[in-house]
Amino acid sequence: MAQNQSQNQKPECKGRVCVTGASGFLAAWLIKRLLLSGYHVTGTVRDPGNEMKLAHLWRLEGARERLKLVRADLMEEGSFDNAIMGCHGVFHTASPVLKPSSDPKAEILEPAIQGTLNVLRSCKKNPSLHRVVLTSSSSTVRARDDFDPRVPLDESSWSSVQLCEKFQIWYVLSKTLAERAAWEFCNENNIHLVTVLPTFVIGPSLPPDLCSTASDVLGLFKGETEKFQWHGRMGYVHIDDVALCHILVYEHEAANGRYLCSSTVIDNDELATLLSERYPSLPIPKRFEQQNRPYYELNTSKLRTLGFKFKSVQEMFDDCIASLVEQGHLTLHI
Ligand SMILES: NC(=O)c1ccc[n+]([C@@H]2O[C@H](COP(=O)([O-])OP(=O)(O)OC[C@H]3O[C@@H](n4cnc5c(N)ncnc54)[C@H](OP(=O)(O)O)[C@@H]3O)[C@@H](O)[C@H]2O)c1
Repeated sequence: MAQNQSQNQKPECKGRVCVTGASGFLAAWLIKRLLLSGYHVTGTVRDPGNEMKLAHLWRLEGARERLKLVRADLMEEGSFDNAIMGCHGVFHTASPVLKPSSDPKAEILEPAIQGTLNVLRSCKKNPSLHRVVLTSSSSTVRARDDFDPRVPLDESSWSSVQLCEKFQIWYVLSKTLAERAAWEFCNENNIHLVTVLPTFVIGPSLPPDLCSTASDVLGLFKGETEKFQWHGRMGYVHIDDVALCHILVYEHEAANGRYLCSSTVIDNDELATLLSERYPSLPIPKRFEQQNRPYYELNTSKLRTLGFKFKSVQEMFDDCIASLVEQGHLTLHI
């Protein structure tokens, strides 16, 4: 199983898989893990000529021998055909992770929903396809106000489209509608789909430019309150666990349906206290104004039943801080 793969072992040779959005925060770590466990990987990127943006991928162990990068854009019909043809597996991670500036439909909803269908249409044309793993989000489960807070939410829960529209939570809406569309398409077309629903991903960033969530975390360490105040109570998961979870649900014959991928759910105040005690030299905010949102827990027993163990909140933030310091984004005064 990928989780037990020692980094020093020579990897066994595995088939070819495609990872969409290869240059991103999560995808880069997934590719690192796929290469370490012996896969050949075709990664899709929007701009293969941007050497600076892709250098972190070429530095990965096994990349020169087993990584290929090809151009594809979610908004171009048929764009993923070449990358996906002949692959046994497809990991679809590409999706905009941003706050739209003016046009949520064009900036986030269409690339997420139509882009996912575009990728799946390419999957349908590929006779070698074994399974598709879609990176969804735990936000597709918890944005609702009609549940019993004493019962942890599990994979049977879906976020409310009406609530997302009412409060203009475009990212959550995009992920919810994209995952729903993926299930409908794959059920109709007999494609074996498994979805991974990570909570807030924490850990080292391989890309030198921080993605939106990694920038929010850096902001917290520098004393900014806005983003984490809005996040309120939140689940957290180590980036390495998210990558390993994708590989586990791809490889495990019995894996099916949706998988929540989360180590711990905690309130922002509790997280800030934990981090301030561990890193007293960082100006982490002490308290946040609380949001009026329902209390929730997440039930991750479905993934744990496959034998999965999560790293702790302490470990994910330690690894994240160490990497931010190493990359020069943050200074620790001891
Ligand atoms: N970070 C988290 O806490 C978190 C939690 C739950 C789920 N997720 C999911 O994980 C996935 C990866 O997110 P991330 O955090 O790694 O963010 P990220 O670094 O911003 O990665 C997003 C990727 O999507 C690609 N993309 C965006 N629009 C595209 C388009 N029109 N065509 C092709 N590619 C496009 C980007 O490509 P470019 O490099 O070309 O822009 C980038 O590689 C997303 O599906 C996200 O919803 C993330």
